[in-house]
Amino acid sequence: MGNLFPRWTNWLPLKLAVCLGFVGIGAVVGATYYLTPKYYRVGYEPTQPVPFSHKKHVGEVGLDCRYCHSFVEVSSHSNVPTNQTCYNCHGPDKGQIKKESEKLAMVRDADKTGIPIQWTKVHRTPDFAYFNHSVHVNRGVSCQNCHGQINEMEVVKQAEPHSMGWCLDCHRNPENKLRPLDQITNLTYKPEQLNRDTFYASLKDKGIKEDQVVKTLLGLKQEDSLPADAPKDWGKVVELAAKTYGPMVTQKEVGTQLKDHWRVAPPETCAACHR
Ligand code: HEC
Ligand code: HEC
Ligand code: HEC
Ligand code: HEC
Ligand code: HEC
Repeated sequence: MGNLFPRWTNWLPLKLAVCLGFVGIGAVVGATYYLTPKYYRVGYEPTQPVPFSHKKHVGEVGLDCRYCHSFVEVSSHSNVPTNQTCYNCHGPDKGQIKKESEKLAMVRDADKTGIPIQWTKVHRTPDFAYFNHSVHVNRGVSCQNCHGQINEMEVVKQAEPHSMGWCLDCHRNPENKLRPLDQITNLTYKPEQLNRDTFYASLKDKGIKEDQVVKTLLGLKQEDSLPADAPKDWGKVVELAAKTYGPMVTQKEVGTQLKDHWRVAPPETCAACHR
């Protein structure tokens, strides 16, 4: 009876344990591979070579994004500033703010050697997808929609997934995000803060007519005709807006007006983003 199981089976439990061990390791490796920044990128927060704080420079000093990211409105690519921009304030002769600081040693080295600081890239769109900054920021999409509250970040981290589904979510319903162009880099913007008279006056200044605005307010298409009792002057238009949306300006109100009158139509075809 003692020989019913061959001798090698004595090792079976050990072999099983080893095998399960490998499976376990595989699962851990897989999980870290798929869940770490490349795949699960929200929250990705690499340590930068210089402890540069957006919270300090934007939130406290009050710099506009375009002071440093100066190409964002004109180029597909949003540049990171060169050392020279930092030296406007931290240089030994210009600015002189904290010019001896240890934290700025690398900025001074970069100035001496001419080798730029190697910032670690936080956001990255794969090469097979096409993305262009200027088309977005010139059509009423804010840095905040895609990068979150940068103005509050000590260290930049990825706030939005930047996945294909995420891009398409906005492309299908841009009215949920669009804002006036002078608010693009205002990261504390809220539509409720807009003055309704000023907002409609800005549309008027751009040559948009009362009946165009009324059609949008009534949820009509621009090619539809207006009902006979539709308001005809700007004063009455603003009253209709207040009746439709309540005392405060809302995102839907701003977004639909901008979408209709700027003819914003983000692409959803594969070839637009995969060219
Ligand atoms: C004083 C210069 C300065 C200002 C002003 C500034 N930035 Fe930056 N920004 C930098 C530098 C330097 C980096 C690279 C280091 C880092 O990631 O912190 C950077 C990085 C970034 C990144 C990450 C880039 C990547 O690698 O993916 C984003 C997004 C960004 N900034 C957005 C903004 C926005 C939005 C504003 C305005 C609210 C702004 N920045 C204002 C200097 C600035
Ligand atoms: C418009 C002026 C201005 C520009 C441009 C500017 N900074 Fe600053 N920076 C400041 C001010 C103001 C402080 C706060 C100093 C303080 O706390 O007394 C500061 C603080 C810092 C500190 C913290 C220093 C310390 O010892 O606490 C670092 C690091 C820094 N900046 C890096 C940068 C880098 C990198 C750039 C370029 C990408 C840059 N700054 C561009 C004005 C500027
Ligand atoms: C519609 C979404 C969207 C908007 C709006 C947007 N960004 Fe970006 N941003 C991205 C994406 C996507 C990337 C990654 C691009 C890549 O890998 O080429 C990126 C990358 C960046 C980078 C890194 C560039 C680099 O190559 O190192 C900076 C800096 C930046 N954005 C700043 C800004 C600023 C400042 C604004 C507002 C004025 C802004 N972005 C508005 C989506 C957006
Ligand atoms: C918050 C809203 C929003 C997000 C997020 C967004 N887009 Fe857009 N996109 C727009 C708007 C608005 C336009 C302008 C449409 C127009 O001009 O009619 C646009 C236009 C485009 C265009 C056409 C213009 C051109 O350059 O040919 C491409 C391509 C594009 N987006 C790609 C992307 C990609 C890729 C992402 C994700 C990484 C993305 N978008 C995320 C709102 C958004
Ligand atoms: C608005 C821009 C946009 C449009 C339109 C778009 N894509 Fe994408 N697509 C992207 C971006 C950005 C990525 C990269 C996503 C990432 O990094 O996670 C991507 C990734 C992919 C991938 C790689 C797998 C994945 O999910 O990461 C495939 C396959 C793909 N797209 C196919 C398509 C097809 C097919 C269409 C048309 C039905 C299409 N895409 C339309 C922006 C777009």
